Amino acid sequence: MLYGADYNPEQWPEHVWDEDVERMREASVTTVSLGIFSWSRLQPTPTTWDFDWLDRVIGKLHEAGIGVNLATATASPPPWMSVEHPDVLAVDENGATYWHGSRQHYSPASPTYRRLAAQLVTKLAERYAHHPAVVMWHVNNEYGCHLPSEYSDAAQTAFRGWLQKRYGGIAELNDAWGTAFWSQRYGQWEEVMPPLKAPYSRNPAQLLDYHRFMSDMWLECYLAERDIIRAAGATQPISTNMMGAFKPGNYQSWAPHIDVITDDCYPDPLDPQRPRNTAFQRDLMRSLKPGTPWLLMEQATDAVNWRRTNVSKQDGQLAAETAQSVGRGADGIFYFQWRQSRAGAEKFHSAMLPHAGTRTRTWQEASALGGQLAALPELPQPKDEDARVALVFDWENWWAIENPDHPTTLDYLSLVREWYGALHRRGVMVDIVPPEQVSDRHHLAIAPFLYLLRDEGAAALTRFVESGGVLCAGPFSDIVDANDRFRLGGFLQQLGPVLGVGLEDFRALPLPTATAIAERAGTAEIDSGGDHPSSSDHVELDLADGTTLRGTHFAEALWADDAEVLATFRTGPSATRPALTRRVHESGGQAWYVGTMPDPAGLDAVIGRLLHEASVAPVIENLPEGVEVARRGDVVTVINHGPTAATVSIPGTELLTGEEFGSRELAPQEFAFVKSAITS
Ligand code: GLA
Repeated sequence: MLYGADYNPEQWPEHVWDEDVERMREASVTTVSLGIFSWSRLQPTPTTWDFDWLDRVIGKLHEAGIGVNLATATASPPPWMSVEHPDVLAVDENGATYWHGSRQHYSPASPTYRRLAAQLVTKLAERYAHHPAVVMWHVNNEYGCHLPSEYSDAAQTAFRGWLQKRYGGIAELNDAWGTAFWSQRYGQWEEVMPPLKAPYSRNPAQLLDYHRFMSDMWLECYLAERDIIRAAGATQPISTNMMGAFKPGNYQSWAPHIDVITDDCYPDPLDPQRPRNTAFQRDLMRSLKPGTPWLLMEQATDAVNWRRTNVSKQDGQLAAETAQSVGRGADGIFYFQWRQSRAGAEKFHSAMLPHAGTRTRTWQEASALGGQLAALPELPQPKDEDARVALVFDWENWWAIENPDHPTTLDYLSLVREWYGALHRRGVMVDIVPPEQVSDRHHLAIAPFLYLLRDEGAAALTRFVESGGVLCAGPFSDIVDANDRFRLGGFLQQLGPVLGVGLEDFRALPLPTATAIAERAGTAEIDSGGDHPSSSDHVELDLADGTTLRGTHFAEALWADDAEVLATFRTGPSATRPALTRRVHESGGQAWYVGTMPDPAGLDAVIGRLLHEASVAPVIENLPEGVEVARRGDVVTVINHGPTAATVSIPGTELLTGEEFGSRELAPQEFAFVKSAITS
């Protein structure tokens, strides 16, 4: 288990470094990420270089037995670069330039930026590739953070090249983008632009391709640096830190190129859905490279500086959040950062070693946690069979479904997390994957709001059902092709046959009111005010057994051509029409379709039935409210996130103490790792 933090020694005089190293040992730090924002120190002028200080820091760390995750320092170019080479600078959609003075102000498409970054990385790689302290490489930092999209001349040129590679000729581009609409036809490549400021709705296929292009630009920057490091003979793992479900970067397409997935996670202590949302993030990271551990590359020891209000964590919350990462596949826990900054925009951000010193709760908790993690026996690798449920979450779909001009406005991540929440509450392990990665290791696949469905994804979902899996799709799924165009013949053109349903119309409902949303999140008092959900926000549907469920967002008008109707809309624009259907296949596989977004009780009811049909069991049955479990091979992690003590029974022995776990009362924030005979 690796343990440590970002270390920014260049912010401190050298005599502090010795104290740092001593304290790191006290806190059981094994590894630090070094040099992430050091470019202006390493290359103070265009022609001068200074590696001596870095040699000295690495030497001190090495002597103390602390490993280095060496950063390539390319995330924040020095001021001299913007002055000498303004073509490295990013530009917004209105043409305004982003200048230095903060960080991450460069265009990833700029050939000059890439050349200067390559020069720096070459020097670093040649100098440190064989240094025994260097255990890993940290390329750039949080690609796309702060500047998810940019529109410089360099981006424009690169975008045209990217489109030429994707489509070949201008005629193919016109076809893919549907430019016969609104006189948008392009005669030559020079007319093609990034989606710059325009008076009204822009071409959705162009917007979608710009998302793809930007994500590919960050990946190209990563690949260029990775190749330089490898060419210098480095054999350590190479990574770049991700940010969970970060919309601009298609991590599912990046993952194959990254040796070990590393993630930054900053849950808001005020988020009422925090444990669910962080569990989702950890599972998403685990699913990027199934069967392989990942590293939590950054979390805060306590408050951050960048929210409107930056509240502290509760006592024990840091350890509980750490246990959640470990239980869901992390083999290393790191913080931003080691020592709290004295100056700069992040001086109020917490750190392992706070400004107020070692008498603090933060230091005591972080150093105790280091000791605890060091005492853990080696954990099993996460296993393929840990999760039998695949929840489909797809970046291209995310970009496309949140384009404007749709029947309603959808927050794809929130909606998918609600489906995830119903599984999480029941203690069911979930893989979070694009449709192509649903496979026969899964028994149940859930694909909500899969508006953009690629041919390969549809083929994988169909194969899954035909080989005996249980699939639940909808609502608003299988509507457009990879270029955001309707498929000819209507909707559900790919999954319709397997589902046995046709889709006549979407019948969007008014968006749930703020109060209704707060109720779903468990933060509102019912009957609290004027904007209580009106009856038109939702519809009611009746299941055959007499249960009534509620749905929001859509009440789709469905034809159950070759499917059993499990529930019918009772109210709303599709009253009397099918709301939930199932087609049972000869293989034993089942294809369910739901024409609305069930409310939390409805989701729980639908998930309960799906789990039953797919014979998927939770890690532990009947969990008390607020208690979470996860499986990692034969280790079960249990955490009480709730405000009161809760009793849980798990057969097995506790990893840290070797004692029988049995039936145990867990205090709020208490957790345990239990070696257990339970299997999936
Ligand atoms: C990000 C960055 C860090 C730091 C933290 C603060 O994760 O990678 O450098 O700015 O945010 O929360």
